[in-house]
Amino acid sequence: MSESFDRLGLSKATLGALRRVRFTQPTPIQSQAIPPALSGKDIIGCAATGTGKTAAYVLPLVERFHSKKGTLGLVLAPTRELIQQISEPVQVFAEARGLTHAVVIGGEDMGAQVEALKAQPTFVLATPGRLVDLLENGMVDFGKLEALVLDEADRMLDMGFLPQLERIFEALPRRRQTLLFSATLGPDVTRFAREMLYRPVRVEVTRSGTPAERAEQRLYVVKPEEKSALLLTLLAEDEATALVFTKTKERADKVLRTLQRAGHKSAVLHADRTQNQRRQAMEGFRKGTYRCLVATDIAARGLDVEDVGQVINYDLPHSPEDYVHRIGRTARAQASGVASTFATSKDKAVVAQIERIMRGQIPRVEVPRDSPVFREAWNQFVASQKDPGPPQQDSEAPPQREQRQPAGRHARTHRKQR
Ligand SMILES: Nc1ncnc2c1ncn2[C@@H]1O[C@H](COP(=O)(O)OP(=O)(O)OP(=O)(O)O)[C@@H](O)[C@H]1O
Ligand SMILES: [Mg+2]
Repeated sequence: MSESFDRLGLSKATLGALRRVRFTQPTPIQSQAIPPALSGKDIIGCAATGTGKTAAYVLPLVERFHSKKGTLGLVLAPTRELIQQISEPVQVFAEARGLTHAVVIGGEDMGAQVEALKAQPTFVLATPGRLVDLLENGMVDFGKLEALVLDEADRMLDMGFLPQLERIFEALPRRRQTLLFSATLGPDVTRFAREMLYRPVRVEVTRSGTPAERAEQRLYVVKPEEKSALLLTLLAEDEATALVFTKTKERADKVLRTLQRAGHKSAVLHADRTQNQRRQAMEGFRKGTYRCLVATDIAARGLDVEDVGQVINYDLPHSPEDYVHRIGRTARAQASGVASTFATSKDKAVVAQIERIMRGQIPRVEVPRDSPVFREAWNQFVASQKDPGPPQQDSEAPPQREQRQPAGRHARTHRKQR
């Protein structure tokens, strides 16, 4: 769709901000969702990963709130990292209209957040847990609130978050605009929307579950003990930045050690890390200090990191929808990338579920067992099984010392340290 932002009913100030961030044309979800959102309608927005859903809700809200006072918009998203990321476009577009925002997330100083809320920022961007804590303490006033956004709506409405969300909804005016967005919007969200939204407009650019168009998917059927060798082989094929997903925090730590031992600058992101460690891992990955980020599904949704060339599903996700979100961390905006998935014979049912959600097959690819890197890693593994002397990749070795590589930008030139 070769439309222009000028036709969407946005102000000159916002069009200026769009030029500054070099958004020349609206993406399809933006051109279809902005006009109804500007007129105050409730929206259920579905479009593939990396296609600009954030601006599709931020832009109309800054226009609607311009020249009004008080806390008018609440954006909820499932993780701290995602809220921090959303705060960037909010900052740019809200500032252009003289509006303010506050970030309310766990792991950070609550006192500072309370102070920020006292100033009645136009937007509150929050993870549900911390917001509930502040609500319980009477620290937030949503009396004037006009719009609620649930980014990653299906994740927000699943069992884990629902009790917190219900507590938050109680604190919001019943008459308000509600906007839901995700790349996967199944029947549960639709049911919720029927109860909670008022005559919502369904903007479905692509059907729920449609994977990122330019992500080249590959499925490797492996034995569990071959996963490390395959991971190192894929990383040896190019120097692209890689995001590696594991099923659990413990496995993420273990894969991190494997990568570090093989000389790959890597960091780990999961819920047992401190906020400082999480921030440092994310920032280092964004800057290119780390070539690899190993993460649990905490990083599956919404994160927008430039130049992620490979997503590697070392383990399959707990929920099949998250496959679509995980692989969507590559091939964002106009970029392309490779999404490799390691499946064992036990994973057949989950693979079938994923393929049902996507309405397509993940192409099967032969495991490169003849490649020298694979053979070397495999031989090391076999030797470690015979002689459990020095720590090997599948042993429970303690974490290695801090990496001693110098920091710097390596996004496209991750050479192995020997
Ligand atoms: N109109 C536009 N022109 C150019 N770039 C854009 C435009 N809209 C958004 N982008 C950029 O595209 C990238 C993806 O946007 P965004 O994170 O909003 O995608 P998303 O649809 O929310 O994806 P996900 O489902 O993974 O959360 C961002 O880097 C954003 O800055
Ligand atoms: Mg998003």
